[in-house]
Amino acid sequence: QNPPIDTESCPYGEAAIGRAADLIRDGHPVAIATETVYGLAGDATSDSAVARIYAAKGRPSFNPLIVHVPDIETAKVIAEFPPVAQKLAAAFWPGPLTMVLPLAANSPVASLVTAGLPTVAIRVPAHPAMRALLSVAGRPLAAPSANASGAISPTTAEHVIASLGGRIPLVVDAGPTARGIESTIVAIEDDHIRLLRPGPITGDELSAATGLAVTGAQSDAIEAPGQLASHYAPSHPLRLNATEARADEWLIGFGPVQGDETLSASGDLVEAAARLFAALHKADASGRKKISVAPIPEHGLGIAINDRLRRAAAPR
Ligand code: TXA
Ligand code: MG
Repeated sequence: QNPPIDTESCPYGEAAIGRAADLIRDGHPVAIATETVYGLAGDATSDSAVARIYAAKGRPSFNPLIVHVPDIETAKVIAEFPPVAQKLAAAFWPGPLTMVLPLAANSPVASLVTAGLPTVAIRVPAHPAMRALLSVAGRPLAAPSANASGAISPTTAEHVIASLGGRIPLVVDAGPTARGIESTIVAIEDDHIRLLRPGPITGDELSAATGLAVTGAQSDAIEAPGQLASHYAPSHPLRLNATEARADEWLIGFGPVQGDETLSASGDLVEAAARLFAALHKADASGRKKISVAPIPEHGLGIAINDRLRRAAAPR
Protein backbone atom coordinates (compact mmCIF):
# COMPACT_ATOMS: atom_id res chain seq x y z
CA GLN A 1 0.00 0.00 0.00
CA ASN A 2 2.48 2.67 1.19
CA PRO A 3 5.81 2.97 -0.65
CA PRO A 4 8.78 1.67 1.39
CA ILE A 5 10.61 4.18 3.61
CA ASP A 6 14.20 4.07 4.86
CA THR A 7 14.42 2.33 8.24
CA GLU A 8 17.26 3.71 10.33
CA SER A 9 18.80 1.63 13.14
CA CYS A 10 20.43 3.78 15.87
CA PRO A 11 22.31 2.47 18.92
CA TYR A 12 20.55 3.39 22.18
CA GLY A 13 21.84 6.73 23.53
CA GLU A 14 20.84 10.36 23.93
CA ALA A 15 20.86 11.06 20.18
CA ALA A 16 18.69 8.04 19.34
CA ILE A 17 16.18 8.87 22.08
CA GLY A 18 16.00 12.52 20.95
CA ARG A 19 15.32 11.47 17.39
CA ALA A 20 12.78 8.86 18.50
CA ALA A 21 10.93 11.41 20.65
CA ASP A 22 10.77 13.86 17.70
CA LEU A 23 9.24 11.15 15.52
CA ILE A 24 6.74 10.22 18.27
CA ARG A 25 5.67 13.87 18.65
CA ASP A 26 5.14 14.03 14.88
CA GLY A 27 2.84 10.99 15.14
CA HIS A 28 5.19 8.29 13.79
CA PRO A 29 5.79 4.86 15.35
CA VAL A 30 9.32 3.96 16.51
CA ALA A 31 10.67 0.52 17.43
CA ILE A 32 12.49 0.39 20.77
CA ALA A 33 13.80 -2.22 23.21
CA THR A 34 11.88 -3.11 26.36
CA GLU A 35 12.90 -5.78 28.88
CA THR A 36 10.48 -8.25 27.24
CA VAL A 37 10.53 -7.81 23.44
CA TYR A 38 11.04 -4.84 21.10
CA GLY A 39 7.93 -2.63 21.01
CA LEU A 40 6.55 -0.45 18.22
CA ALA A 41 5.82 2.71 20.21
CA GLY A 42 3.50 5.56 19.29
CA ASP A 43 1.67 8.43 21.01
CA ALA A 44 -1.13 6.70 22.95
CA THR A 45 -3.15 9.94 23.13
CA SER A 46 -3.41 10.33 19.35
CA ASP A 47 -5.77 8.22 17.24
CA SER A 48 -3.80 8.96 14.07
CA ALA A 49 -0.49 7.97 15.69
CA VAL A 50 -2.09 4.71 16.89
CA ALA A 51 -3.54 4.11 13.43
CA ARG A 52 0.01 4.31 12.04
CA ILE A 53 1.12 1.56 14.46
CA TYR A 54 -1.68 -0.72 13.22
CA ALA A 55 -0.84 0.17 9.60
CA ALA A 56 2.88 -0.62 10.02
CA LYS A 57 2.10 -3.98 11.68
CA GLY A 58 -0.73 -4.85 9.32
CA ARG A 59 -2.65 -5.70 12.52
CA PRO A 60 -6.41 -6.09 12.63
CA SER A 61 -7.67 -3.01 14.43
CA PHE A 62 -9.94 -4.96 16.83
CA ASN A 63 -6.83 -6.02 18.72
CA PRO A 64 -6.20 -3.51 21.55
CA LEU A 65 -2.67 -2.35 22.48
CA ILE A 66 -0.70 -2.07 25.73
CA VAL A 67 -0.12 1.47 27.07
CA HIS A 68 3.32 2.10 28.60
CA VAL A 69 3.76 4.79 31.28
CA PRO A 70 6.74 5.88 33.40
CA ASP A 71 5.15 5.37 36.85
CA ILE A 72 2.01 4.46 38.77
CA GLU A 73 0.97 8.13 39.18
CA THR A 74 0.73 8.46 35.40
CA ALA A 75 -1.00 5.07 35.21
CA LYS A 76 -3.72 6.37 37.57
CA VAL A 77 -4.58 9.18 35.16
CA ILE A 78 -5.33 6.53 32.54
CA ALA A 79 -6.89 3.63 34.49
CA GLU A 80 -8.75 2.94 37.73
CA PHE A 81 -6.69 1.14 40.37
CA PRO A 82 -8.53 -1.13 42.79
CA PRO A 83 -6.49 -2.15 45.90
CA VAL A 84 -5.30 -5.42 44.31
CA ALA A 85 -3.94 -3.50 41.32
CA GLN A 86 -2.06 -1.20 43.71
CA LYS A 87 -0.48 -4.24 45.37
CA LEU A 88 0.54 -5.73 42.04
CA ALA A 89 2.00 -2.41 40.88
CA ALA A 90 4.01 -2.09 44.09
CA ALA A 91 5.33 -5.64 43.73
CA PHE A 92 6.11 -5.82 40.01
CA TRP A 93 6.45 -2.32 38.47
CA PRO A 94 8.62 -1.34 36.77
CA GLY A 95 8.63 -4.75 35.11
CA PRO A 96 7.00 -7.27 32.77
CA LEU A 97 3.44 -7.19 34.19
CA THR A 98 0.48 -5.75 32.24
CA MET A 99 -2.82 -5.11 34.01
CA VAL A 100 -6.16 -4.80 32.23
CA LEU A 101 -8.08 -2.18 34.25
CA PRO A 102 -11.20 -0.03 33.82
CA LEU A 103 -10.49 3.19 31.92
CA ALA A 104 -10.35 6.24 34.22
CA ALA A 105 -12.93 8.98 33.71
CA ASN A 106 -11.39 11.48 31.25
CA SER A 107 -8.60 9.05 30.36
CA PRO A 108 -6.40 10.72 27.70
CA VAL A 109 -5.87 7.43 25.85
CA ALA A 110 -7.06 7.38 22.22
CA SER A 111 -10.07 5.13 21.61
CA LEU A 112 -8.18 3.17 18.94
CA VAL A 113 -5.75 1.96 21.65
CA THR A 114 -8.50 0.11 23.52
CA ALA A 115 -10.36 -0.78 20.32
CA GLY A 116 -13.42 0.71 21.97
CA LEU A 117 -13.27 -1.54 25.10
CA PRO A 118 -14.12 0.02 28.52
CA THR A 119 -10.79 -1.35 29.80
CA VAL A 120 -7.16 -0.55 29.07
CA ALA A 121 -4.02 -2.72 29.26
CA ILE A 122 -1.24 -0.82 31.02
CA ARG A 123 2.31 -1.40 32.24
CA VAL A 124 5.38 0.43 33.61
CA PRO A 125 8.40 -0.97 31.73
CA ALA A 126 11.80 -1.46 33.34
CA HIS A 127 14.14 -1.09 30.35
CA PRO A 128 16.17 2.16 30.41
CA ALA A 129 15.68 2.77 26.66
CA MET A 130 11.88 2.64 26.84
CA ARG A 131 11.94 4.63 30.10
CA ALA A 132 14.12 7.34 28.49
CA LEU A 133 11.74 7.57 25.53
CA LEU A 134 8.71 7.87 27.85
CA SER A 135 10.45 10.67 29.73
CA VAL A 136 11.66 12.66 26.70
CA ALA A 137 8.49 12.17 24.62
CA GLY A 138 6.47 13.14 27.71
CA ARG A 139 3.37 11.11 26.92
CA PRO A 140 2.03 7.56 27.35
CA LEU A 141 3.15 5.23 24.58
CA ALA A 142 1.07 2.50 23.00
CA ALA A 143 3.43 -0.32 22.04
CA PRO A 144 2.62 -3.75 20.64
CA SER A 145 5.49 -6.05 19.79
CA ALA A 146 7.48 -4.63 16.84
CA ASN A 147 6.72 -7.33 14.27
CA ALA A 148 4.27 -7.69 11.41
CA SER A 149 0.95 -9.07 12.66
CA GLY A 150 1.08 -12.84 13.28
CA ALA A 151 4.89 -13.08 12.96
CA ILE A 152 7.39 -14.06 15.67
CA SER A 153 8.04 -11.38 18.32
CA PRO A 154 11.37 -9.54 17.97
CA THR A 155 14.04 -9.81 20.65
CA THR A 156 16.75 -7.97 18.67
CA ALA A 157 16.84 -4.86 16.41
CA GLU A 158 17.73 -7.20 13.51
CA HIS A 159 14.45 -9.10 14.01
CA VAL A 160 12.58 -5.79 13.85
CA ILE A 161 14.29 -4.80 10.60
CA ALA A 162 13.58 -8.21 9.07
CA SER A 163 9.86 -7.86 9.84
CA LEU A 164 9.15 -4.11 9.60
CA GLY A 165 12.08 -2.74 7.56
CA GLY A 166 10.75 -0.28 4.96
CA ARG A 167 7.59 0.32 7.01
CA ILE A 168 8.90 2.29 10.03
CA PRO A 169 11.41 5.17 10.26
CA LEU A 170 13.58 4.12 13.24
CA VAL A 171 14.72 1.26 15.46
CA VAL A 172 16.47 2.13 18.74
CA ASP A 173 18.93 -0.75 19.13
CA ALA A 174 19.73 -1.68 22.74
CA GLY A 175 20.87 -5.23 22.02
CA PRO A 176 18.97 -8.46 22.76
CA THR A 177 16.12 -8.15 25.28
CA ALA A 178 16.63 -9.71 28.72
CA ARG A 179 13.30 -11.55 29.21
CA GLY A 180 12.65 -12.61 25.64
CA ILE A 181 8.88 -13.16 25.96
CA GLU A 182 6.04 -10.65 26.25
CA SER A 183 4.75 -9.40 29.59
CA THR A 184 2.32 -11.36 31.73
CA ILE A 185 -1.22 -9.96 31.28
CA VAL A 186 -3.76 -10.11 34.13
CA ALA A 187 -7.30 -8.94 34.82
CA ILE A 188 -8.43 -8.34 38.39
CA GLU A 189 -11.72 -9.89 39.56
CA ASP A 190 -13.53 -9.50 42.91
CA ASP A 191 -11.73 -12.35 44.66
CA HIS A 192 -9.16 -13.64 42.20
CA ILE A 193 -6.72 -12.73 39.45
CA ARG A 194 -7.32 -13.93 35.91
CA LEU A 195 -4.23 -14.70 33.85
CA LEU A 196 -4.93 -13.55 30.28
CA ARG A 197 -1.44 -14.22 28.90
CA PRO A 198 1.27 -16.18 30.73
CA GLY A 199 4.62 -14.41 30.84
CA PRO A 200 7.74 -13.65 32.89
CA ILE A 201 5.77 -13.01 36.11
CA THR A 202 4.32 -16.40 37.06
CA GLY A 203 0.94 -17.27 38.60
CA ASP A 204 2.69 -18.27 41.83
CA GLU A 205 4.38 -14.87 42.09
CA LEU A 206 1.06 -13.06 41.49
CA SER A 207 -0.59 -15.19 44.13
CA ALA A 208 2.22 -14.64 46.66
CA ALA A 209 2.08 -10.84 46.21
CA THR A 210 -1.69 -10.58 46.72
CA GLY A 211 -2.83 -13.66 48.64
CA LEU A 212 -5.37 -14.27 45.86
CA ALA A 213 -5.99 -17.31 43.70
CA VAL A 214 -4.86 -17.05 40.07
CA THR A 215 -7.15 -18.66 37.49
CA GLY A 216 -6.64 -19.34 33.82
CA ALA A 217 -3.01 -20.23 34.45
CA GLN A 218 -3.20 -22.91 31.78
CA SER A 219 -2.50 -21.51 28.37
CA ASP A 220 -5.70 -22.92 26.80
CA ALA A 221 -7.66 -20.53 29.02
CA ILE A 222 -6.31 -17.38 27.39
CA GLU A 223 -8.98 -14.75 26.95
CA ALA A 224 -7.19 -11.62 25.81
CA PRO A 225 -8.76 -10.54 22.54
CA GLY A 226 -6.31 -10.94 19.74
CA GLN A 227 -4.68 -13.95 21.34
CA LEU A 228 -5.30 -15.75 18.08
CA ALA A 229 -4.50 -19.45 18.11
CA SER A 230 -1.95 -19.17 15.34
CA HIS A 231 -0.02 -16.21 16.73
CA TYR A 232 3.78 -16.02 16.84
CA ALA A 233 3.96 -18.19 13.77
CA PRO A 234 7.21 -19.02 11.98
CA SER A 235 6.80 -19.58 8.23
CA HIS A 236 7.62 -23.32 8.47
CA PRO A 237 5.53 -26.01 10.24
CA LEU A 238 6.46 -26.63 13.85
CA ARG A 239 6.34 -29.97 15.75
CA LEU A 240 6.25 -29.99 19.56
CA ASN A 241 7.68 -32.42 22.13
CA ALA A 242 10.33 -33.75 19.75
CA THR A 243 13.10 -35.87 21.19
CA GLU A 244 15.02 -36.10 17.92
CA ALA A 245 15.02 -34.38 14.53
CA ARG A 246 13.15 -36.07 11.68
CA ALA A 247 14.09 -35.62 8.02
CA ASP A 248 14.43 -31.98 6.99
CA GLU A 249 13.73 -30.69 10.52
CA TRP A 250 15.65 -28.02 12.41
CA LEU A 251 15.51 -29.18 16.04
CA ILE A 252 15.40 -26.67 18.87
CA GLY A 253 16.69 -28.49 21.95
CA PHE A 254 16.16 -28.12 25.68
CA GLY A 255 17.81 -29.86 28.64
CA PRO A 256 18.79 -33.43 27.68
CA VAL A 257 17.54 -33.02 24.09
CA GLN A 258 20.39 -31.47 22.15
CA GLY A 259 19.24 -29.64 19.02
CA ASP A 260 20.70 -27.75 16.08
CA GLU A 261 20.34 -24.99 18.62
CA THR A 262 19.52 -25.56 22.29
CA LEU A 263 17.42 -23.16 24.42
CA SER A 264 19.18 -24.21 27.61
CA ALA A 265 21.39 -27.26 27.96
CA SER A 266 21.10 -27.07 31.76
CA GLY A 267 17.29 -26.92 31.61
CA ASP A 268 17.13 -23.31 32.87
CA LEU A 269 13.70 -21.88 31.92
CA VAL A 270 14.78 -18.23 32.30
CA GLU A 271 17.60 -18.75 29.83
CA ALA A 272 15.23 -20.68 27.53
CA ALA A 273 12.61 -17.89 27.54
CA ALA A 274 15.19 -15.24 26.70
CA ARG A 275 16.36 -17.31 23.70
CA LEU A 276 13.00 -18.61 22.47
CA PHE A 277 12.03 -16.13 19.76
CA ALA A 278 15.61 -15.75 18.48
CA ALA A 279 15.75 -19.55 18.15
CA LEU A 280 12.48 -19.57 16.15
CA HIS A 281 13.80 -16.79 13.87
CA LYS A 282 17.00 -18.78 13.32
CA ALA A 283 15.12 -22.02 12.65
CA ASP A 284 12.94 -20.23 10.12
CA ALA A 285 16.04 -18.94 8.30
CA SER A 286 17.95 -22.26 8.51
CA GLY A 287 16.97 -23.52 5.07
CA ARG A 288 15.27 -26.66 6.50
CA LYS A 289 11.60 -27.04 5.66
CA LYS A 290 10.36 -27.99 9.13
CA ILE A 291 11.00 -27.05 12.75
CA SER A 292 10.71 -29.22 15.85
CA VAL A 293 11.10 -28.32 19.51
CA ALA A 294 12.05 -30.47 22.50
CA PRO A 295 9.58 -30.90 25.41
CA ILE A 296 9.56 -27.93 27.81
CA PRO A 297 8.34 -28.60 31.38
CA GLU A 298 4.91 -27.05 32.09
CA HIS A 299 5.78 -25.11 35.25
CA GLY A 300 7.10 -21.61 36.07
CA LEU A 301 8.24 -19.82 32.93
CA GLY A 302 7.69 -23.07 31.02
CA ILE A 303 3.95 -22.24 30.99
CA ALA A 304 4.58 -19.04 29.01
CA ILE A 305 7.11 -20.75 26.72
CA ASN A 306 4.70 -23.61 25.93
CA ASP A 307 1.88 -21.09 25.33
CA ARG A 308 3.99 -19.34 22.65
CA LEU A 309 5.10 -22.68 21.16
CA ARG A 310 1.54 -24.06 20.91
CA ARG A 311 0.49 -20.89 19.07
CA ALA A 312 3.50 -21.14 16.77
CA ALA A 313 2.54 -24.76 16.03
CA ALA A 314 -1.20 -24.12 15.53
CA PRO A 315 -2.60 -24.82 12.05
CA ARG A 316 -3.21 -21.64 10.08
O1 TXA B 1 5.87 -7.33 26.70
C1 TXA B 1 4.93 -6.77 26.16
O2 TXA B 1 3.79 -6.71 26.66
C2 TXA B 1 5.18 -6.13 24.78
C3 TXA B 1 6.17 -4.98 24.98
C4 TXA B 1 6.44 -4.21 23.74
O3 TXA B 1 5.74 -4.14 26.02
N1 TXA B 1 3.97 -5.69 24.18
C5 TXA B 1 3.04 -6.57 23.69
O4 TXA B 1 1.95 -5.95 23.10
O5 TXA B 1 3.15 -7.77 23.74
P1 TXA B 1 0.95 -6.70 22.09
O6 TXA B 1 0.13 -5.59 21.50
O7 TXA B 1 1.70 -7.55 21.14
O8 TXA B 1 0.02 -7.52 23.01
C6 TXA B 1 -1.07 -6.90 23.65
C7 TXA B 1 -1.99 -7.92 24.21
C8 TXA B 1 -2.91 -8.45 23.14
O9 TXA B 1 -3.03 -9.85 23.27
C9 TXA B 1 -4.22 -7.76 23.45
O10 TXA B 1 -5.28 -8.51 23.03
C10 TXA B 1 -4.14 -7.62 24.96
O11 TXA B 1 -2.81 -7.28 25.18
N2 TXA B 1 -4.98 -6.50 25.42
C11 TXA B 1 -4.78 -5.19 25.22
N3 TXA B 1 -5.78 -4.46 25.74
C12 TXA B 1 -6.64 -5.34 26.31
C13 TXA B 1 -7.87 -5.21 27.01
N4 TXA B 1 -8.43 -4.03 27.23
N5 TXA B 1 -8.47 -6.34 27.45
C14 TXA B 1 -7.89 -7.55 27.24
N6 TXA B 1 -6.73 -7.73 26.58
C15 TXA B 1 -6.11 -6.65 26.12
MG1 MG C 1 2.60 -9.28 19.70
